[in-house]
Parts: sequence; C-alpha cells; structure tokens
Amino acid sequence: MKVLIVGTGISGLSAAVALASRGEDVIMISPFPSERAQSVMAAGGINAVDEESEDSFEAHIGDTLKGGRFIAGKEAVKGLCEAAPSVIRELEQMGTVFARDENGKIRRRAFGGQSFDRTCYSGTSTGKQIVTALRRELRRYESQGKAEIRLGTDFHSALIEDGRCYGILAYDERYASLAPIYADAVIIASGGQNALYGKTTGSTACDGYTAGRLFMQGAVLKNPEFVQFHPTTYVTPQKNMLISEAARGEGGRLFYVKDSKRVYFMEDLFGPKGNLMPRDVVSRSIFNTGEKVFLDVSFLGGKKIRERMLETYELCMKYGGLDITEEPIPVTPSVHFFMGGLAVDNGHMTNIDGLYAAGECASIYHGANRLGGNSMLAAFYGGKVAAGSIIEREEKREAPLFDGFIRDQEKAFNKILSSSGRKPVTDIRSKLAQAMKGSMGIIRNGKDLEDGINVLDGLIGQVREDEFDSSLLPYFTYSTEAIVVLGKAAMTAALARTESRGAHQRSEYKEEKDEFCAATLISYDGGRLSVSYDKEGRYEH
Ligand code: FUM
Repeated sequence: MKVLIVGTGISGLSAAVALASRGEDVIMISPFPSERAQSVMAAGGINAVDEESEDSFEAHIGDTLKGGRFIAGKEAVKGLCEAAPSVIRELEQMGTVFARDENGKIRRRAFGGQSFDRTCYSGTSTGKQIVTALRRELRRYESQGKAEIRLGTDFHSALIEDGRCYGILAYDERYASLAPIYADAVIIASGGQNALYGKTTGSTACDGYTAGRLFMQGAVLKNPEFVQFHPTTYVTPQKNMLISEAARGEGGRLFYVKDSKRVYFMEDLFGPKGNLMPRDVVSRSIFNTGEKVFLDVSFLGGKKIRERMLETYELCMKYGGLDITEEPIPVTPSVHFFMGGLAVDNGHMTNIDGLYAAGECASIYHGANRLGGNSMLAAFYGGKVAAGSIIEREEKREAPLFDGFIRDQEKAFNKILSSSGRKPVTDIRSKLAQAMKGSMGIIRNGKDLEDGINVLDGLIGQVREDEFDSSLLPYFTYSTEAIVVLGKAAMTAALARTESRGAHQRSEYKEEKDEFCAATLISYDGGRLSVSYDKEGRYEH
C-alpha cells in the first residue's frame, strides 16, 4: 500500500516508521524538514507511569479524564495511558536520551494535574530529542526506498469521492503549482491551529489550514472551542516564549506583589501543590488576579536550574536579558494548544474513509483541557495507532478520475497567482487574530462570541470577493479562507456550549452542566455550521 502523510513532526514520523517497518510505502510532505516541526519546540516531557512505583495506569487514566473534564473518550485514553511505558522504551531504543538518576533509573518530574511524578524528560528539550531519534530511525527506511520525504510541498485539498479519500492535491512551492498525489490512505499530521491567534507559543507553520480545508470538504471537527492557554509564557517583542511547566514541576512558585509583599496566590487558593494545578485552572487564576504575575525559580539555585532547565535559562537570557537564577520571570498565559481538531475514531480515522489524523490536528485524548506531558505521548501513540489501523483496514485501491475537481482548483489557484489586487491578505489574518483574542480568550461571553462570528463572516466574504496582492506567497492567500472558517467553527461551538468546562469558560454560565458532558461535533454542511454533542461516543469505536 502507499500511504501519504501530511506533516513531519512526531505524529507523522511515528506513523511513517510504523508503516515502513511493516513494509508499506510512505510519502511524507511538508514545507519544512522535521527539524523545524513544532514538535521540536515541545519542552517539558512525556508522561508514562513508572511501573515499579505506586503510580498506576488507573491513576494516569483518571488524571487525564479529570484534567479533560470528562469529555475525552475513556477507551482511547485507556489505550494511551497503558501504552505509555512501552512508548518510552521504544523511544529509548531509537536513541532518545531521557534524564536518569544516580541509579540509572529514568527520572520523572511532577507536572500539572497529575497525582504522581510521571513526566519523563530530557532537560527542557524533550521534543528535540524525540524528533532526532525518530528522524534517524526513518532514514533506515528512506535508504531502503520505503519512505520518501517531499519538502517544499504543502497540502492544498483532499481528493474525496463518495465519502472516501484517495490522496491529496499538493502545492509545490518550487514551481508554484498544484499536482495530485494519490494514495491508498492519507494521515493528516499537520499540528495545531496557531494562525487563529497570530502569536502563540507554537510555530506559525502550524496554522490550522489543513483541518479548516478538510472541514470545508466534509470532515467533522470535534471540540474546537477548547483552546489551551499555557499559564506561564514570557512575552517579548519577538515571541511568546514558553516557560515550561517543568519550572513549576521542579518547585517554581507563582506570585504577585501586594503592599510590597509577595502573594503566592496559587498556594493560597489550592494548597501546597497549587502551582501544579491543571493549566486551565492556573491560567484562569492568573487572569483573575488582575495583577502582574511572576514565576520564581531562583531559589532552586543556578546549578539545578542549568541542569534541569538549561533551555529555559538560555532563552530568557537571550530574548529578555533575564537571569532566572537571580530574578523572577514575568509571566502571562498565552495560547499554547488546541484540544479541538479533526474528529477521529479510536483507530484515528476521520468520518471520511481512508483519511486519518494524528497529533494536535486530531481531537481524541484531551477533552476540555490537556495535561502537560500528554501531547508528545498522544502524538507518538496516535501516529502508531493510525498506522496500525491503516494496515488492518485499508487495501490497494484504484483512484477514480479527479479531472474536474483538479481543473476547478487550478482555475481558482491561477486566479490568485495572476491577481493584480494590492491588498495584503495579512490584514485579514490580523483581523482574525484580533477577533479570536477578543471573543475566544480565557473567559468568554455570548455577546462577544456573536460579535466575533459577525466579524469572521465579514472576513470570509472579503476573502471570497476581494483580490489580494499576488506577490505574497500563494499559499498564504489560498489558505486564509479555510483558517477563518476554522475560527468561525470554534466561535460557533463556544457560543453553543452554554456552560463552563475546562478551557471553555463562559462568564454567564459559570458551572459545568450534565447535558454538556459530551464532546462537541461540528460540521460544515455547505457553509451552514451544525453543532451536535457526541453523547453516544460515536467517535469511540
Ligand atoms: O510546559 C511545557 O513544558 C509544555 C509541555 C506540554 O505542552 O506538554
């Protein structure tokens, strides 16, 4: 079989290795090499129960479900948590170097919302280590001709007929042209939806276009209203720099200053482990202080800081001239992760046959709020599960002719290329980010959401009617409509969920409601967005 993977981060690489090692042919596409995937930025670690400790799978499953406020699929989460120790062993065999204690045992650090220390790590560059190991592993299959990575190639649209995906139409950056790539199955591993908010802790390359475009082509989205604000980012003009949860895992304390005294508000609110509450709780609590908040790690001492979080130390020094061994870090919650994405079943297939999704672009394990350390686990595990399902469910297939579809797409694309418009499409992107920040922040309300939806409707109309400056990258222009539609899906789901749960908090509906204890499903239906709730766990089977 030939399997096409969109994206070269952890989930894509994991799927590629699993498929190629079982004799399948893999093509991966991405504008960038894996070394520039957002996975490389993942800092703090990867969760796995230490089977020789008092920790247990039940505890990891329970923490994950509770952290996600009980709307993630139980079976899927069970599979994830039970597989975690073998994921760590596999990553080690591929060459990932995890920190070990003096007895040679893998160290585990405390992370938010977890009842035991179970986050395995490599300093604060765990993602880089994992990507390096996976990339090296894949090279073996590249040299055998079983895997190929086509860089400078972007997703444009899926080739879908009668509810089945037969490949994609790809955009080749070198020739500014579109070309079909047919495959027996496709895995989308394109990451999060950062372009919705402009500046986030993640990579601008993970813009959400692929999920947005697939949504417009009939793929169902799940939980798009749940957006994670990481509590501790250090905002500099260049970046919203992540201050890894590891800093609090190692003992860092949040405080603000009142009457010249430090107020350790998280400890006052939630007790000694208050700094390590789940991220939605910490971000909300910081927001609610209305004060300038700081994170202090200096008391850990320079030696420990450099040993356990060297990258954080160096980033603060480089971008802010801040020596965290001496001074507290000013911190602000910033957008970090999208719990919502393409709805997939437990085998990671979307509602479109032959189309799979894994990693941050898929919504399955995290419910209303993801626990730190579960994202790389979900990315690696999800990629493997998708690969296994494809081997089990799919077969070689003859693709129908897509001539008409391809011609239409090329016509629209050539219109962009030959446009004499002068408006920069970046204006639309900035207005989208502004509307998202205004309506889809830590605390939301119905009025702002309605206003936001109106703004996005206006932007969608402009993108369809106006001509934009074609000297900008064509990708940037053709991708904008689907990204705005994705933002509208998030706002629509947020407006419909008249309760507060996890990362979705409504000022008028402050409590969780039983009737909403289910994942949101949203579909495009020719431009009319329809919201329903997955009470039967349709995506669990
Ligand atoms: O804070 C962090 O190191 C982030 C980890 C994660 O998102 O899992």
